[in-house]
Amino acid sequence: MSAESLRILLRGGRVMDPARRLDLTGDVLLVGGRIAYAGPPLDPREAEADQIFDATGLVIAPGFIDLHCHLREPGQEAKETIATGTRAAARGGFTTVCAMANTSPPIDCRPLLEYVQQTARREGVVRVFSLAAMTRGLAGQELTEMAELAAAGAIAFSDDGVPIASSRIMRAALAYSRLCGRPIMPHCDDPELLAGGTMNEGPVAACLGLKGIPAAGEEAMVARDLALAALTGGRLHIAHVSTAGAVDLIRRAKARGVAVTAEATPHHLALTDAWVAGHRWEGHGQPYDTSTKVNPPLRSEADRQALLAGLRDGTIDAIATDHAPHTLVDKLCPYDEAAFGISGLETALGTLLRLVEHGELTLDLVIEKLTIGPARVFGLPYGTLKPGQAADVVVFDPQTTWVVDPTRFASKGRNTPLAGQRLRGRVEATFVGGRLVHQTEEFAARQTRALVTR
Ligand code: DOR
Repeated sequence: MSAESLRILLRGGRVMDPARRLDLTGDVLLVGGRIAYAGPPLDPREAEADQIFDATGLVIAPGFIDLHCHLREPGQEAKETIATGTRAAARGGFTTVCAMANTSPPIDCRPLLEYVQQTARREGVVRVFSLAAMTRGLAGQELTEMAELAAAGAIAFSDDGVPIASSRIMRAALAYSRLCGRPIMPHCDDPELLAGGTMNEGPVAACLGLKGIPAAGEEAMVARDLALAALTGGRLHIAHVSTAGAVDLIRRAKARGVAVTAEATPHHLALTDAWVAGHRWEGHGQPYDTSTKVNPPLRSEADRQALLAGLRDGTIDAIATDHAPHTLVDKLCPYDEAAFGISGLETALGTLLRLVEHGELTLDLVIEKLTIGPARVFGLPYGTLKPGQAADVVVFDPQTTWVVDPTRFASKGRNTPLAGQRLRGRVEATFVGGRLVHQTEEFAARQTRALVTR
């Protein structure tokens, strides 16, 4: 049977599509790789399909979109590859990921961008968009050929991992962002305040004797970049917002009409710096566990609450994982020396559903910030179940609980502070353009009609 005519029916699930304010029990029909229908139960005559899955008790939503992940290829294949990273994405319910530019070498010229795109087409199981570096070699001195990179497909520009010290360079990048129609996505922190820091500056860092990274560094840089965006009319997207002050600055800049969007990560929304001292939801962790080391660092409870408020009032547009896989060696060392980063693609949904379970976010809002929210930030034609759209769909069980076992990750990065924690909510199936790229055994058993080759 040709892919053009293949009909797949997901029947009787909770169909949620925040872009269309849809939340009802019904069916989703995928035909030839596109959404043909998403709504109340279909008439049995219309519901003819080659493959039918019973989705009773499951949520059917647009596939998730991650604006920020590190796939590490080229050059750091011991940490992750496009093949393993996109498999991790599929297991996490993500159908589109945007790959960061801080590879070795960084993605700062057209051939490297094309290398990532070709590798993703050959080896990726989900859609991969590439970010390009903002400055050559991520050195913060000289802009890349932004117009050429945008024409070659760069979706945005970022030196993520390295804050841009020079206001002159940032001003120029924002001015160019207008010309090439792509956002600038800075990692906002003051390099001098950041230097040598390993965790959030505050009482926990003081108790542990670790050098802190003050919230003020992030806030000073967010304030500068907002001012430069206003000055140039450039398009700014602020990566991994982590402090209450930054949320407040962005909220006020949006009210003034500055062209800014922002994202927050599941770990900053759900965890705090108490985790560095060994706090866990269940049981106890070890203090100084390097899996909690991430940049920006896990912050205070007040910061976490401000991020949640920012999501609710629209200050924060999207949830992005900042999936940052590392090898065991990168993390098996003293806290000061360990690499920054959390492997996040496979735990994102479970982490966020915990916030839903605790009444801190609604399920509808979580799905919005994983689908149409990020789609709008980068202008991607995905993130909704509207008929005619690509059939990028996630099916998840919002009730099933599971214990995080990083040795079972598809990602090479096992660096997660959530190891051993029980999460509620499991991705059962992920479709990209109508193709089933991930399914659990339980989901496979729900198939009531198998494909018959005509
Ligand atoms: O924790 C982080 N890890 N933050 C970043 O900004 C970079 C990332 C990485 O590349 O490992």
